[in-house]
Order: sequence, then C-alpha cells, then structure tokens
Amino acid sequence: MITVLFVCLGNICRSPMAEAVFRHKVNQRGLSEQIEVDSAGTGDWHIGKIPHEGTRKLLDSWRISYEGMSARQVQHEDLSDFDYVIAMDNTNAENLSALPGGSEADILKFMDLLPEEKLREVPDPYFTGNFEEVYRLIDSGCDVLLDRIVNEKL
Ligand code: 4NP
Repeated sequence: MITVLFVCLGNICRSPMAEAVFRHKVNQRGLSEQIEVDSAGTGDWHIGKIPHEGTRKLLDSWRISYEGMSARQVQHEDLSDFDYVIAMDNTNAENLSALPGGSEADILKFMDLLPEEKLREVPDPYFTGNFEEVYRLIDSGCDVLLDRIVNEKL
C-alpha cells in the first residue's frame, strides 16, 4: 500500500479538499487497493469537525465524496507512517519539519507539483474565501501527483 497524507493548518479547507479529490482520482483509476489517502492539520482548533462549508460546496458541485471525513491533528508518527507527506503551504511544511524526527527532505510542497504556476503556496481559503481557486490548483496538482506515484511506485 502506498500512503499519502495532505497537511494544512486547520484540516477543514485545503487538505480535506485534496484528500477527497485525490481519493476520487485514485478510485477512478481503479487504484483504491494500492493507494491510501488521508489528511491532517498542524493546528488543533477543528479536531473532529467535518470539512468547511466552502470545501463541501465545491466537492458537492463536482460530485466528489467527503463522507466520513473529519479533522485531525498531525502526529510526528505520521512522518514515518506515510510515504508521501504533502504540505499545502510553506508554514505547514516548516511546522512539519519541526516535529520530532521531522526533516525538510521528508516533506513535499503541494505547489512543487505545479512548477508552471505563479502561486508557490496553496492560498488559504479560510481567509481568502476563494475555494474555486483552491479547487483548480488541487485538481491539477493531484493529477500530477497520481502520475508520479504510478511511475515511481506502482
Ligand atoms: P485550512 O484553513 O488550513 O485550509 O483548513 C484554515 C482553517 C481554519 C483556520 C485557519 C486555516 N483557523 O485559523 O481556524
């Protein structure tokens, strides 16, 4: 099993959107027995909460399931438990690197999947309100990530 963890700050907007979109793509390609997907937040404020309304609206409009998902806080064990740990912004990456046993080398930045984009971090829609922009980036980046995993590992 290849395991993928998306990490943002609250685990209610960006990383759950990435989790749901990526799992949807994994299922569409018939790879659900080979690739497992999860998400977590560096912060603890929203533990147990379902995704933010803005994320749910976008996922609903694309008929992408987020059933059963609820926010959790990242644990340092996640760094060794997951094959791919993907930070949505630079602060998330720094916070992950600072966990016990953490190192920069173990963490991918989501926008590094999209080198042609001017934006170098996934903007936080909790503050910008722009969930469509986040969906566009996540949809493109997840395609790149899935191709990469298939090529590297499967
Ligand atoms: P996320 O967005 O990191 O994409 O889930 C946020 C959600 C909540 C907060 C910040 C960002 N907050 O400060 O509560």
